[in-house]
Amino acid sequence: MTKVVCPGSFDPVTNGHVDIVERAARLFDEVVVAVGVNESKKRLFSLQERIDMLRRATEHLPNVSVASFQGLLVDFCAEHGIAAIAKGLRAVSDFDYELQMAQMNGNLTDVDTLFIPTSPEYSFLASSLVKEVARGGGDVSGLVPDFVLEQMKDAFTR
Ligand code: PNS
Repeated sequence: MTKVVCPGSFDPVTNGHVDIVERAARLFDEVVVAVGVNESKKRLFSLQERIDMLRRATEHLPNVSVASFQGLLVDFCAEHGIAAIAKGLRAVSDFDYELQMAQMNGNLTDVDTLFIPTSPEYSFLASSLVKEVARGGGDVSGLVPDFVLEQMKDAFTR
């Protein structure tokens, strides 16, 4: 049984994330989408909101579950019998940092990292940009699940 983790902050989940999770779900028996908790970073959505949005966005995928983790990702992998980390790679700009993390995680354990190239239609997509554009009144439909559009509107006014 091959089990992989798709980690991230998912604030909020985008259609680019969903695409990577869908593709990982075709390659692996089980996919755990893991929301990293970093108390020092200010988020638009609470941890529970991000988990709930991810569950809704991946409910069509029977071999996908959603969890959260605090501390090191490799420790989460060891606790859950996860052999590999799957990350989406958008552009060369992602590569330097992602390679560094992959090699650091590989230095800590034997958990390997696999990069999945982002589909071209999502290569410019980032949660931070989606929030910035949506906050400014721009149209981000098609870039995030429809229910996320509604939740962002609510979150901006609270
Ligand atoms: O969505 P993001 O911000 O790219 O997610 C980054 C995340 C949560 C995947 C990354 O920061 C992470 O793995 N954090 C866990 C802490 C950790 O293991 N750090 C060492 C990495 S070499």
